Amino acid sequence: MVFLSRAVSSNQPQNDQTDHDDATETTIYGTRWASRDIPRYEMPDEEMPANVAYRMIKDEIELDGTPALNLASFVTTFMEDEAEQLMKENLSKNFIDFEEYPQTAEISNRCVNIIARLFHAPMDKPEAEALGCSTVGSSEAIILATLAMKRRWQTARKEKGLPYDKPNMIMGANCQVAWHKAMRYLEVESREVPCTEDLLYMDPKKAVDWADENTIGICAILGSTYTGHYEDVKTLDSLLEAKCKEKGWDIGIHVDAASGGFVAPFVYPELVWDFRLERVYSINVSGHKYGLTYPGIGWALWRSKKYLPEDLIFNINYLGSDQASFTFNFSKGASNIIAQYYVLIRLGKVGFTHIMKNLVSTADYLADKLENTGKFVILSERGGKGVPLVAFRLKEKKLYDEFDVSAKLRERGWIVPAYTMAHAMEHLKLLRVVVREDFSRNRSEILIRDINSTIAALNLWDEKEAENHRKFRNRSARHNHRSSFSLVHGKVQPNDKDSKSHKKHDAPGVC
Ligand SMILES: Cc1ncc(COP(=O)(O)O)c(C=O)c1O
Repeated sequence: MVFLSRAVSSNQPQNDQTDHDDATETTIYGTRWASRDIPRYEMPDEEMPANVAYRMIKDEIELDGTPALNLASFVTTFMEDEAEQLMKENLSKNFIDFEEYPQTAEISNRCVNIIARLFHAPMDKPEAEALGCSTVGSSEAIILATLAMKRRWQTARKEKGLPYDKPNMIMGANCQVAWHKAMRYLEVESREVPCTEDLLYMDPKKAVDWADENTIGICAILGSTYTGHYEDVKTLDSLLEAKCKEKGWDIGIHVDAASGGFVAPFVYPELVWDFRLERVYSINVSGHKYGLTYPGIGWALWRSKKYLPEDLIFNINYLGSDQASFTFNFSKGASNIIAQYYVLIRLGKVGFTHIMKNLVSTADYLADKLENTGKFVILSERGGKGVPLVAFRLKEKKLYDEFDVSAKLRERGWIVPAYTMAHAMEHLKLLRVVVREDFSRNRSEILIRDINSTIAALNLWDEKEAENHRKFRNRSARHNHRSSFSLVHGKVQPNDKDSKSHKKHDAPGVC
């Protein structure tokens, strides 16, 4: 059959739409909203259709980096459809409404129990039972745990009639910014053991040497943010035990297991770092890192109620039943807690072991391949002796540096951060690839190929080109300065007093 169309002449009446804006046939891009800028700083006077608002925001957000190519972050970028379904179905639940959502509260209890057992909390007698709570992430858990240590120390000092106004806490200079926040917000002096060429994380002996009667606790990191190293909690525990015995002090260890807490138990079970050690009083872990759950979920655990002063716990009954709460925020979403429970029971120990072993093997493969190019020095551990990440630096000084490598890789879409090492080792520049669940062997092959071609391209630079790139990099770094709090445009100018003082305390570029 031949299909022949007739071209209608101009003087024939046509079913013309003059007001194309309201035509139901047009796409979003044919509406009047598509020809206007998105409302930015002022709530618009009029409404807009849901599909237009959705599309405008979606189109803007697509300019973000691709989460799966973001090798800077430890935070989960893949969950199964079933987990996402559960999250979607529970988005409207407020976790704090225990009375209304008793099963969700029960699920949170189960998560605390599972994680406490994974971390070998003593369970033999009722008075020795561990305590724990969900948090938004490890930062909240760290601040809560610091608060508990500070309050315990203050109470003990008051009871003895001793001064209690100069608390200090000891940690490696490689600690994450969450610790700087905890120290500053809670007015605790931070004693940071510097890193050295030989040890890019905390030396337990130096840490214990620095302790005194005002020390509220020592933080040990299970998975340094900079290099993935596990700090030696066992040695710290025995040195601290000896010192406390000698001096009559009671100083506890808090383990920041933000990254390593869900890795070490499955690939390095012989490592003793958790509640098996008597001086480990509290632990934090990020559910949204290797706990394989979308952000933001973390967990704080205490060895027993002795280590969580009762006067920090708020008991309320205005939601219909008596309930205890130790959190900063009252309301929060319940869906991440439910998703965390899904992951824990869906994977079980065998599932976690399979995934973590695969990650270790991918990280080792990547480290070997990079080392074999002869161009890089690997600074992280292999074989599961640290978090599955590869921290590396250039072997030789060139016209370009690690920051140039990072910028060049960004052109291909890869986000591989470059950063300087912690206090006293700032001259050391590093690159870091965090191996997460969705970073497959195939992806690592492509990354290696792209790193090789990046180096080949950078090797073509001459002095002048390197200088130009550096100038551009510095300028765009200043331009791209990001802040997690927003300035109200038109009210506070960037050179106002407050914003200046904030700038002085920039968080490090490693998270
Ligand atoms: C060792 C360490 N502690 C604490 C944090 C903060 O964790 P969160 O992002 O869950 O608040 C991080 C984040 O990367 C970390 O690596």
